[in-house]
Order: sequence, then structure tokens, then C-alpha cells
Amino acid sequence: MIAALSERALILAPSGRDAAIAAALLAEAGLSAVISRTLPDLVNELAEGAGFAILTEEALHTANLQPLAQWLEAQPDWSDFPFVLLTQKGGGLERNPAARRFLDTLGNVTFLERPFHPTTLVSLAQSALRGRRRQYEARARLDDLHRGATKYRSLFESIEAGFCIITIVFDDNGQPVDYIFEEANPAFERQTGLSIDQGKSMRSMGTTPSQHWLDIYGKVATTRQPVRMEDHAEALGDVWVDVYAFPVGECDAAQVAVLFNDISARRAMELALRESEERLRALNETLEHRVIERTSALEKAQAALRQSQKLESMGQLTGGVAHDFNNLLTPIVGSLDILQRRGVGTDRERRLIDGAIQSAERARTLVQRLLAFARRQPLQATAIDLAALIRNLAGLITSTCGPRIWLAIDIDEHLPSARADANQIEMALLNLAVNARDAMPDGGKLTISAIEEHVSDGHSADLAEGDYIHVRIADTGLGMDAKTRAKAIEPFFTTKGVGQGTGLGLSMVHGLAAQLGGGLTIESAPGAGTTVHLWLPVTSAVCDQSPPIPMPAEPRVQRGTALLVDDEPLVRTSTADMLIELGYRVIEATCAEDALSRLEQAGVVELLVTDHLMPGMTGTDLAATIKLRSPDTRVLIISGYAEVDGISPDMQRLAKPFKQSDLALSIERL
Ligand SMILES: Nc1ncnc2c1ncn2[C@@H]1O[C@H](COP(=O)(O)OP(=O)(O)OP(=O)(O)O)[C@@H](O)[C@H]1O
Ligand SMILES: [Mg+2]
Repeated sequence: MIAALSERALILAPSGRDAAIAAALLAEAGLSAVISRTLPDLVNELAEGAGFAILTEEALHTANLQPLAQWLEAQPDWSDFPFVLLTQKGGGLERNPAARRFLDTLGNVTFLERPFHPTTLVSLAQSALRGRRRQYEARARLDDLHRGATKYRSLFESIEAGFCIITIVFDDNGQPVDYIFEEANPAFERQTGLSIDQGKSMRSMGTTPSQHWLDIYGKVATTRQPVRMEDHAEALGDVWVDVYAFPVGECDAAQVAVLFNDISARRAMELALRESEERLRALNETLEHRVIERTSALEKAQAALRQSQKLESMGQLTGGVAHDFNNLLTPIVGSLDILQRRGVGTDRERRLIDGAIQSAERARTLVQRLLAFARRQPLQATAIDLAALIRNLAGLITSTCGPRIWLAIDIDEHLPSARADANQIEMALLNLAVNARDAMPDGGKLTISAIEEHVSDGHSADLAEGDYIHVRIADTGLGMDAKTRAKAIEPFFTTKGVGQGTGLGLSMVHGLAAQLGGGLTIESAPGAGTTVHLWLPVTSAVCDQSPPIPMPAEPRVQRGTALLVDDEPLVRTSTADMLIELGYRVIEATCAEDALSRLEQAGVVELLVTDHLMPGMTGTDLAATIKLRSPDTRVLIISGYAEVDGISPDMQRLAKPFKQSDLALSIERL
């Protein structure tokens, strides 16, 4: 409604200038006014809206009041339209029955007797307008209330949460015993399964209320404190509810509003989540554990790999050095050997030659150890009887170790044969015995034992699956700390003083075991002695029992022609000298191709002595070519190191450096 319309004054004063004067007076006071000519006009204007109306008594006398009465009757609750009725002079209510009638019709009417002072009219008009404004305010509040109530109702009807208002019934002792439903929404009925009769109590509906909930609601009603909780509602089946109960109504009304939700699904989800979190945590814990285990296994594997790579590269290096050394030693050993056997020179010169020979021998042993470590020593791996070998060695070990060390030998009966090189194994065992002796300066016990053992994958010595002979060399000596133990097999690692140890003993044994397809591990702790474990592969082959071939007594004369092939001139010269001494006519060649062209001229030769690795064709290939032409030619390969690749196992080999007697023995075996 437009404010101007709702606040304007309506004037009905048909006689004379009354209406115009009244309008002028109101206008002066800042009030707008509309003049109606007739009562029906006024009723029409009223319908449009107005703040109040000023009427003259005589305007009503003759008029039909029915439409006005109807309009007034139809006013909304908030409206009580104010009138100012201007009465005749001396027409006060007490003496004016007509005016009383108007009072009944108009209701909210103020009488003003004429003549009146203009300010009285204005003041009455203003107070009528104030009254009207209050009515407008009431209307606005009622509208608000109405809107709120509508909202509440639709919320009440549509929410998913169960909602009810209950009045708690207490017994004479103040104990809650029942409750009456004032209101309950559809969700409440749905969730509880109850059909609620408004105004009825639980008991009267035939249901006994749970004392648990009665106590809770009773407390809310008496303390007027709201309660919020999650609880198990047994009466509703296996259901969990979230309940909010709060006091409503007057203080003494004992009314409680209850808002609740079925949270069973949420709780089930929370429970499932908690369980899965538990499981995840448990998994995480074991995962962490597993990661730690794996990491440490990985670290161990990496350390082992580093160690083996280190040994590998050291092996390559020492192997190369040793090979060159052997080539250098071959003419030295050979020449000194010839000089010694010819007995040349004075006594003093012969002593010098003897000294040189001893040094050359030591150098040879050293190089042999280096080659052993590098797994490149020429090995004659055959089936050997380890039990016999160890027993035969016992005497030498006892004398080497001295009287303060007690040697115990403990060998399985029926020990199968091992595939190994007997000479090298003897050397290895002797080396280990010397190490044990050095670790027991005050004496002790040295035990050598051997058993057959089946090894499966993942063995500590990195052995392939199979059958082995497990030899243990155990002493009761000082033992090693972890650092020493870790480095012990490295070449040149020694804790013995300068000149006391080469640090090659264990390296050699380790290299030998590996080259034979076995392995070695060390078990030791300071003060707890040391056990060296040695594994050698078992073989089903039968041991070679043939007696050693005796040294040829005297070099025979006129044995025929020997073709000698080596790219090292010094090696060639000294070897040629030895062959000549042995009774051969020698043709020298620098490589296989050279040898073949010399053979063209010479025809058939009785003996071929050749290096293996040379520029161009290898010694083995050369031998094969010559054998094709003259199958009777005997072949001896002289090699700096193992060079196993490409040399067929049935071919006789002699390792450099060698003495004339070694050469003679090898030729004898061809
Ligand atoms: N049985 C043992 N008890 C205690 N320590 C040992 C034993 N065997 C070897 N070692 C340690 O390992 C090191 C290396 O041994 P290895 O046999 O390779 O060389 P070496 O004995 O020092 O020298 P060489 O063998 O030339 O006499 C030794 O110096 C010693 O510290
Ligand atoms: Mg040693």
C-alpha cells in the first residue's frame, strides 16, 4: 500500500466550507487530506487506504451507514480504523443518543464538539494517525509471524530429521513417567514407526516409554538445559540416533522439543573406516618392517657386490702384472738353470748364480700366488682324494707349525673325490696352516676337518647348488676383528710387519677355490679363533692313482727337430737353449704364421712347443693346423697364465716360468 494513501485523512463534511477549512487546517499541520462528497465516496476512498477520517455528525444522519458498517466489519484483525466525529454544539455523548449510535457503528471514534479550537482538531488528527500507524506496525508483525509460521510448517513437514514436541508427565515424586505428543512431523513417524495421535501420551497409545529417554527428556524439562547426544535406540531396533532435545514453551510447561536423526549408516561407515584405518596402520607397520629388512638385505648385497667388484678389478690388474712378470722370469729362470747345471764359473760365481736362482724361485712363487688370486694360474684340475692329501700333508704341517701347536684331523669316512689341483690345494692348506700358526704365538689347537655337504641356492659363499667337500681349518688363535676379516682376502693386505707377510696367502686360496668352482668364507672374532671354510666341488670321476713319472735320467741325444714359437725373444732364446740341451734341433718362430712358413721348408717336425696367446693365430690353432698335416707331431703349450679359453683340456700345458727339468718332464708326458 502506498504510504501517502495509507496515511491520508479522509474528510466528509458536506455542509458549507467545513471540509475545506478542515483540509486547510490539516495541510498546515503537514497532513494530507482528501474530501469526500458523500458517504459512499468515503467508503470507496477507505478501500483505497487511509490513516483516519474526519466526519461531521450531520453527514451521517441522513446517510445509509450500511456500506460503511460492512467495510468496518470486514477489516482485518490488525485494523481498527480511527474516526474523528465533529458533533453539534452541545451534542456531547451523554446528551446525544445519535452520537452513541455512531460510536457503536464506527468503533474507534473520537468526538469533537463544535466549535473547536483549530489546534484541538489538529492534535486529535495527529493522535488518530499515530494510532493508525501502530496498527500498521501490528500488521507488519503479524505478517512476519505468519510468514515464519508458514516456513516453520513447511520445514516441519519436509525435513528428514524426526521432530516432535512433547510435554513431560511427572508423578507425585517429580519422576518423569510419560510424555504427551503435542506435535510430531512425518519424519518422526517414519523413523519411529509410531503413529502419533496429537495430544495423546505414549502410555495411552499403548507404548511404554523407555526410562532412559524419559530421564533425559525430564531433565531437559526441569533444568531447561538442552542436551545433545548420540545413543543407541533399542526400541527402534538396532539403530543409532543423534538426538537434540531442548526446552520450549513457558517455563512451567515441561515441554521439550526433540530433534533426532538416524545415524546408523554414518556410524557403520565410521566403524568401517576405523577398521580399515586399523588394517592400514597394521599394514604400514609391517610394511615399514619389511622395507627395513629389504633395505638391509639390499645394503648387504651391495656391499658384497662392491667387495667382489673390487677383488675382480684387483684380480685383473694383478693378473696382467703377473703375466708380464712370468714372461720376464722365464729366460731368467731358464738361463740361470742352464748356467747352474753346466757348472760354469768359479766357486764365487757359482754361489752368486745359486743366490740368483733362489731369488728367481721366490719371485716365481710370488707370481704364482698373484696368478692364483687372479684366478689365472694354470690349473690341472683332476679328481683328487682330499682325505689322503690332508693326511699326507699332516707331517709337513706339524713341522711347520712347531711343537706348541696340536694338530687334529677329522675327516669323514667315505669322502668322495674333489675336483681340484692337488699341488695347489696342498699349497693352500699349508698357507692356511701358517696363518693359523701365526695367530697362535703361544700355541693352541689347529683342526682340519672335511665333510661332504649338499649346498642349495643362496649360500654365503655364493656357491652354485650342488655337492661339495667342506673343509674347515680352525684355530684357537687371536682371531680377527670385523675390519680385518673384511679385508683379509684382499691381495697385499697383511697385519704382519714389513717383510713378514705378503698379504697374498688368503687371496691365493680364495682365488684358487673360486677358480675351481668352490668358495671360501672366514668366520672369526677377536679372541675366539678363526675358522676358514673351504668348499671344493665333488666329482664322480675316479682319482688318478698313477705314480709320478720319474725325471729322465740323462738328456737323450738326437731327438729330432722341435719348432719353438713365442713372440717374446728372451723366452724363446732360453727355451731354445733348454731344448737344445735336451737333444733337439730347434727351429725358432715369432708367431704362428712365421712357424707355418718355416715348416714349409723344414718338412715334418717331431715336437711343437708354442706359446698360446700371440699376435695373429693362437698356439692352439697352430697346433691343430700342424696336426692336420703331420698327426705324429707332439705338442706342448707353454703359457703365461691359465688362458683356459681356447685351450682344449687334453692338450699338455706347461706354465711359465719353468726350469729345464720341468720342460723335460712335460715333453716326457706327451
Ligand atoms: N688364522 C688367522 N687368524 C687370525 N688372523 C688371520 C688368520 N689368517 C689370516 N689372518 C689375517 O689376515 C691377514 C691376511 O692373511 P694372508 O694370508 O692373506 O696374508 P699374510 O698371512 O699376512 O701374509 P703371508 O700369507 O704372505 O704370510 C693376515 O695378515 C692376518 O691379519
Ligand atoms: Mg698368510
